Amino acid sequence: MNKDKFLHEIDSRRTFAIISHPDAGKTTITEKVLLFGHLIQKAGTVKGKKSGQFATSDWMEMEKERGISVTTSVMQFPYNDCLVNLLDTPGHEDFSEDTYRTLTAVDSCLMVIDGAKGVEDRTIKLMEVTRLRDTPIITFMNKMDRDIRDPVDLLDEVESVLKIACAPITWPIGSGKEFKGVYHILRDEIILYKSGMGHTIQDLDVIKGLNNLELDKRIGYYAAQLRDEMELVQGASNEFDQDMFLKGELTPVFFGTALGNFGVDHMLDGLTEWAPKPQSRLTNSRKVEPGEPGFSGFVFKIQANMDPKHRDRVAFLRIVSGKYEKGMKVRHVRIGKDVLIPQALTFLAGDREHLDEAYPGDIIGLHNHGTIKIGDTFTTGEDMQFSGIPNFAPELFRRIRLRDPLKQKQLLKGLVQLSEEGAVQVFRPLDTNDLIVGAVGVLQFDVVVSRLKSEYNVDALYESVNVATARWVYSDDGKALQEFQNKASANLALDGGDNLTYIAPTMVNLNLATERYPKISFQKTREH
Ligand code: G4P
Repeated sequence: MNKDKFLHEIDSRRTFAIISHPDAGKTTITEKVLLFGHLIQKAGTVKGKKSGQFATSDWMEMEKERGISVTTSVMQFPYNDCLVNLLDTPGHEDFSEDTYRTLTAVDSCLMVIDGAKGVEDRTIKLMEVTRLRDTPIITFMNKMDRDIRDPVDLLDEVESVLKIACAPITWPIGSGKEFKGVYHILRDEIILYKSGMGHTIQDLDVIKGLNNLELDKRIGYYAAQLRDEMELVQGASNEFDQDMFLKGELTPVFFGTALGNFGVDHMLDGLTEWAPKPQSRLTNSRKVEPGEPGFSGFVFKIQANMDPKHRDRVAFLRIVSGKYEKGMKVRHVRIGKDVLIPQALTFLAGDREHLDEAYPGDIIGLHNHGTIKIGDTFTTGEDMQFSGIPNFAPELFRRIRLRDPLKQKQLLKGLVQLSEEGAVQVFRPLDTNDLIVGAVGVLQFDVVVSRLKSEYNVDALYESVNVATARWVYSDDGKALQEFQNKASANLALDGGDNLTYIAPTMVNLNLATERYPKISFQKTREH
């Protein structure tokens, strides 16, 4: 392997995901990013919410009907001198487990905020997740072509609610019908906005220098207003600081309109220039650096099958170190076996393509028939396990029941496989024969019943169940754990991976149990 080429490939990778509240404009911005990446020729060809989708199975039909993007897909494209990997995350509030785990596979995030609405719930939740790894965040204030809130207020809100310093890189001039463009603070140039050009890459209309009199000619009264505003803004806001950005303490902020395809290029310039190249990752034994020659990576998502008859699955693996080459042999650490990867997949918008090589920061898709689980590590021989790929305690529960009681075995098999994929979580109470399904978002329930039918030929339905919350239980004290199991067995269950779980009918019950059994730890997340 040519070392210089290898290191150059790593340095040029940027792997990121978009986080936002539904409707802030993630799909629209994704489309414009693909336009700049030349993956599509004209915006509007990847219609709305269906961008990046590549599937035909039944449950995806449901997704289409509901206009919700359930899948996480991966897109790779060149921009400036970089090769950018964009991991699409489901936008809907449901399916957040997938979203969370996708965030473990990126090195930076783009946060899209609706300029009229400011910081919304889901953005707050997602930011909490990025905090677990101090992921660097770039911010795009969207919808400047609408009447938005005062930009200074927007920045204040991000700083106070999300606890991250803001460094405006561009600044909007007017908004709504009067949106004139942005001032690029670092480049000292004004880029003027033309409406109705959102479908294409536009020729830029640029005026050099804030004090250029040309500006007064072009935007009249707004020129003087901008100069006044900039004095205030530059006095009151932070300057961009690369170190603080990389530590996740400061976010560069761009203003624009995704629909009008304006400002997205500024954001991409910032991303390619400042966002981190592929980063090291921790395992149970050591830290793995991307430049190491040995191949390693972890699976953060499993996508069921595009062809229901074959029940194949694609595992999404983030490469951490080394180089993937077609036909290479790697160790599947959990099962301790060396396996051949004859063909991996790379993902472009809508298409699946086979690839010959891939580098740290890239995502490859591995075909399998259920042998690969979320969180699995692959290496060129070293026994180690990447950490930090979480399962989240579900917040919604249903008892699942068969219409045809003879299919109990298939039902259990289907549920366990779906739980390994991360589509849902399943709990088997120690004291009864019930099967309880737990989800983070309510739509997961429909997907599961629909997939049980199409993929496992099992007709199931739900009943309500008296469970409010679940916690994984651990203890270093074997005796205390045994005693707890004996006394609390009515509230204990095994999850899909046979991990002991406390299922509580109420939060009060959970709190009481926590007090009563101080030697037992009740955890909201579980690592794979
Ligand atoms: P999401 O993926 O974050 O949920 O948001 P999405 O891009 O689907 O955008 C949500 C709505 O906001 C869409 O309108 C979209 O056209 C609109 N939108 C996105 N960016 C901008 C922008 O910069 N300016 C304006 N004015 N609107 C924007 P919709 O009516 O819900 O959908 P559609 O029928 O237009 O597809």
